Amino acid sequence: MIKMVIFISGRGSNMEALIRATQEGILKGIAEPVLVFSNQPEAMGLTLAQALGVPTFSLDAQGMKRTAYDQKVIEILKDYAFDYLILAGYMRILSSEFIRNFPQKIINIHPADTRLHQGLHAYEWAFQNQMSETKVTVHYVNEGVDTGQIIAQTSVDLSGAQTLDEVEQRGLAIEHQFYAQTLKELFLNNN
Ligand code: GAR
Repeated sequence: MIKMVIFISGRGSNMEALIRATQEGILKGIAEPVLVFSNQPEAMGLTLAQALGVPTFSLDAQGMKRTAYDQKVIEILKDYAFDYLILAGYMRILSSEFIRNFPQKIINIHPADTRLHQGLHAYEWAFQNQMSETKVTVHYVNEGVDTGQIIAQTSVDLSGAQTLDEVEQRGLAIEHQFYAQTLKELFLNNN
């Protein structure tokens, strides 16, 4: 069984979809969440994770330098046996030191084609540019921002979407299926 630590910063809808996939969906018997970690103690997703029976831990980053913070997170993670770090709306750039500790083990979902748009506000970008289609990318995390090796991509049909909210809803519906499906294939192929 693949053990996942899931990193979140807020709502946690991708986290929820992944946990549910391990409990009753396509990741059942393949992967399990051992911890949900957040840099935001108030993240809504933490409450959700607890309700789903998954241990949580949060550490407020306020006032800490990036490398000092990440070093503390590495210390926390030493208490958990895990195979992959799964970023699901973790809105904090990881330091190079952190990433070097877990080579090819950190995976992220990004709501755009990472070759066209990196960083925040990807759905706003698609909406403002009136794109009729955007992409969702699952990729390894390297030392750049959304520049790591692409594992898989899928399309989101935005034709006729009138509002940013609609763009987001369409994208998230795809993300929730696609992340679990992509991880399933990766775990079965790599382990
Ligand atoms: C998701 O759309 C995710 O792809 C995106 O943040 C949202 C988090 O929502 N991540 C990024 O933009 C990373 N650059 P969630 O907390 O409901 O999963």
